[in-house]
Amino acid sequence: MRRLTGSVILLMLCLGAGCGEETATSSGPKSAKPPLLTAATLGDQSVLSAGDYLAQSPYAGADRDNGGRQVQICKACHSLDEGGPNMIGPNLYGFFGNEVGAVEGFDYSAAVRGADFVWTPRALDAWLQQPGRFLPGNRMTFAGITKDSDRVDLIAYLLQTTAGPTINPD
Ligand code: HEC
Repeated sequence: MRRLTGSVILLMLCLGAGCGEETATSSGPKSAKPPLLTAATLGDQSVLSAGDYLAQSPYAGADRDNGGRQVQICKACHSLDEGGPNMIGPNLYGFFGNEVGAVEGFDYSAAVRGADFVWTPRALDAWLQQPGRFLPGNRMTFAGITKDSDRVDLIAYLLQTTAGPTINPD
């Protein structure tokens, strides 16, 4: 009898609280992952200086040493130095805050030439996650960096090294 009462109470609790995982963790629209940001869905962009980005989360707390390791793969195709050459990819010095495809003398793909957005950390983060998905048809042959913290560290490193002395913090 005691047992029976117990299960009746449990049953009632379940009904009242929507017991089972199905109700509590249902994969409705709320728990679905947001769709990956693309060049077409960036929307209005707010553009800050590199120093301001570096003073804010998540870049303020980034591990720039790890960023310095992550960037090695970019250097196979990109120079980061002021006045550096265009290689397989365009020179990246000073690209934050610039319109996509703005490096003179680099032969961009039609996809980049037809795109219309500014390089912010948010845009770069989405590009680096999956370049081919962010801007279909672009020519950057790179699978992407899947780990969120690696992209944050790399972007902090790039903000620091490619922005130039004028907008870098002390
Ligand atoms: C295999 C060569 C290759 C690698 C590796 C590579 N890129 Fe690129 N990248 C390119 C090419 C080529 C383009 C030009 C794409 C186009 O025109 O469609 C490009 C374009 C870009 C642009 C756009 C520049 C502009 O002027 O608008 C950015 C930003 C960029 N790459 C960042 C990176 C970063 C950061 C990494 C390292 C994680 C990286 N790339 C790794 C080849 C590469």
